[in-house]
This record gives sequence, C-alpha cells and structure tokens, in this order.
Amino acid sequence: MPLRVKGLPAPDASIAPAIFVCLPLAPMRTRAGQAQPFTQKPYRICPPGPRIPCEFFPPCLASRRARRIWFRRTAEGRSMDIQSVGIVGAGQMGSGIAHVFALAGFDVLMTDISEDSLAKALSQIDRNIERQVLRGKVAPEAKAAAMARIRTTLRLADTGPCDLIIEAATERETVKQAIFEDLLPHLKPHTILTSNTSSISITRLASRTDRPEKFMGFHFMNPVPVMQLVELIRGIATDAATYQTLLGVVEKLGKTAASAEDFPAFIVNRILMPMINEAVYTLYEGVGSVKSIDESLKLGANHPMGPLELADFIGLDTCLAIMNVLHDGLADTKYRPCPLLTKYVEAGWLGRKTERGFYDYRGPVPVPTR
Ligand code: CAA
Repeated sequence: MPLRVKGLPAPDASIAPAIFVCLPLAPMRTRAGQAQPFTQKPYRICPPGPRIPCEFFPPCLASRRARRIWFRRTAEGRSMDIQSVGIVGAGQMGSGIAHVFALAGFDVLMTDISEDSLAKALSQIDRNIERQVLRGKVAPEAKAAAMARIRTTLRLADTGPCDLIIEAATERETVKQAIFEDLLPHLKPHTILTSNTSSISITRLASRTDRPEKFMGFHFMNPVPVMQLVELIRGIATDAATYQTLLGVVEKLGKTAASAEDFPAFIVNRILMPMINEAVYTLYEGVGSVKSIDESLKLGANHPMGPLELADFIGLDTCLAIMNVLHDGLADTKYRPCPLLTKYVEAGWLGRKTERGFYDYRGPVPVPTR
C-alpha cells in the first residue's frame, strides 16, 4: 500500500521503483556525517514498471526521513519472513542443513523416504551439535532447543505448509523433478521452493513447477555446520523478493552468500570438480598414488584435505554426476569424467558413505585402495 510522506508527491505504484533508481545517487548520512553506501544494486530490486526521470527526485529526497521510510518500506515489502523450513532428503547435506537451521531458530521438518535415514540424520545432528557444545561454541540449552525444533516425517506432503522448502535429495534431475511434482499440490501460495543441487540448471528445475519466480538454487557446502559459504543461484524467472528473502535467511544462519549465475555447476563446483577429476586422472595415468596425490595438495597447496580424500567425503557418485552435468552442459571435452571415477561408482565404492572409495574406511584408519 502506498505511503504518504511529507514532501513527496502522492505515491503510486510507479514511484517506488523510481526512488530506487535515485537512491544510490543520494546516499544517506549517519549522525556522524559519514556516507552510508547503498549495497543493493538498483537494477536488481526495481520491479518492471514505468520509471520517473531522476531529476524529479532530488528535492523530494532532501529529507533524510523520507528516504529512510521509503527505503525501509520497500525492503520490508519485498522480503518474506521465513519461520518454518521443510528439508527433503536426510543424507549428509539434508542433515547438515537441518542442523544449522534449527540452531538459528527456524522450525525444521525433515522428510525422507527411508525411516532409517531420518533416524541416522537425527543422531548425526545430535552428535555434531554435541561436538560444538564440547568446544564451547554452542550452549547446552541452545542444543536442547535446536533438537526440539527438528521434526521428521516420511510423508513429503507434510512439508507443504512450510514457508521455505529445501530439496537436498540425490543429485539426479529426474529424482528432483519427481519430488517437486509431488510437492506442488500441497504447497502454500507463498512457499519458496529451493534446491540444494550442486550443478543442475535452476531454470530448468523451476520451469517444471507452478512458481518459477519463487524458485532458487540454495547451495550449501559440506560439512554444512563448518563451511561459511552458501551459493545463491537465481533462475531466469526468479524474482527480487525471493532473492532478498534468501539473502536474509543466509544472514540469519550466520553464513555468507555468494551469488552465482545459473550455468552448469555454478561457481564452487565449476572450479572444484575439474580439479578433483584431474586428481583422478593423475591416479589413473599412474603419475601418483592416492597417498602421494593427496599429500601433494595438502602440503604443497595448503588444502585442508587432499582431492581424493575430498572426493570420498563429497561422494564419488555426486562428483561423477557433477562432471556429467559440466560435460553435457558446456559440451567441452575438458570436462570428460575420468573412466576411473566411473569405475569406482559402478563398483558401488562411493566414498565415506559406503565405507570404500579412494580409501577403505572399514578399519581403524583409512587405507588407500590404490
Ligand atoms: N558438524 C559440526 N562441527 C564440525 C563438523 C560437523 N559435521 N565437522 C567438523 N566440525 C568442526 C570440528 O568440531 C572442529 O571444530 P573446532 O575448530 O572448534 O575444533 C572443526 O570443524 C575442524 O574439524 P576436525 O578437527 O574434526 O577436522 P579437520 O581439522 O580435519 O577439519 C574439515 C575437517 C572441516 C572437514 C576440513 O578438513 C575441511 O575444511 N575440508 C574441506 C571441506 C570442503 O572442501 N568442503 C567443500 C566440499 S564441496 C561442497 O560441499 C559442494 C558440493 O556441492 C559438492
């Protein structure tokens, strides 16, 4: 609803966008007189609509109060208050996401097709928060409150009433599309749909739903409680309100958002996965052993984990799926998945989650498998 501000002409729907075009030209000043830079990009937040020439505004914007009111109202009107979050998939990403949302005060409903996975996810979250309690990073009461905020269900439809849905299922487009199709009839009109996909086109996933403007890529890194970054990926139709809302959520989680354009594998995996794939080629061609490759990158490039150890940590099936998305989506042979990576996946040696990958985790210490 338009707000009447003294000194401004009677507002209508065409004025707020114009104000945003003008605001960066007239930065607000603090009481101490320092200019406060505007961080928003005006072309991102302006909805389509008629524009009023900038010269029209400077007299109206002379009042600091008028600028502040317009700024606050527009920002509030555009982002949504998220309280409940539905998480689809209780694997390592889904459980990590549930962990950080519950600690940040959101109500979490986690769903999976396997009761066993839900039970494992809950005990994993409990263990990981306990680790944070023991290191003095989380208060014991905060842990109890967070655990109480997490509910689980086997019925996907139960997550329908949530304000925000985060799909964190297997990295296969058909699986993700089937989940969104089943969810659609149960969603509230305001619900924002997101996918934690590491590589799949957000625009394509969104186009199969009834709300492409409320659909975004929401990509967390593993281990979610530790990694600071969240990639935000807008599809071609994602609206400004959805983007602003997710920016606010990331801030509430205490993490940092990086915006990526919707191209195969976005930013992190576009760079990380070819490096891991190259490490597998290095092994395949006999340039180094599992141990020497990992040690070289840890000691020679200061990586916290070697690339093969990291591949096991992420899951070799996920690494292969991302390489295939890069190879198909960018049609460049430099993204060809290494045949040895395919072989490990075909053997069912998927890394830590199956206790065997480039290392064998079944004994007291990981042992290289090559
Ligand atoms: N939950 C809560 N805390 C955890 C945790 C978890 N799951 N895992 C580790 N931690 C905490 C530990 O408690 C410890 O805390 P303090 O600093 O307070 O002591 C800290 O993290 C370090 O853990 P450890 O001492 O156990 O082990 P480490 O020093 O070897 O670190 C690691 C482990 C954080 C995983 C580190 O090896 C690392 O950063 N590895 C690289 C991880 C990475 O690159 N992730 C991105 C993968 S790409 C991705 O996820 C995108 C994709 O789509 C595939």
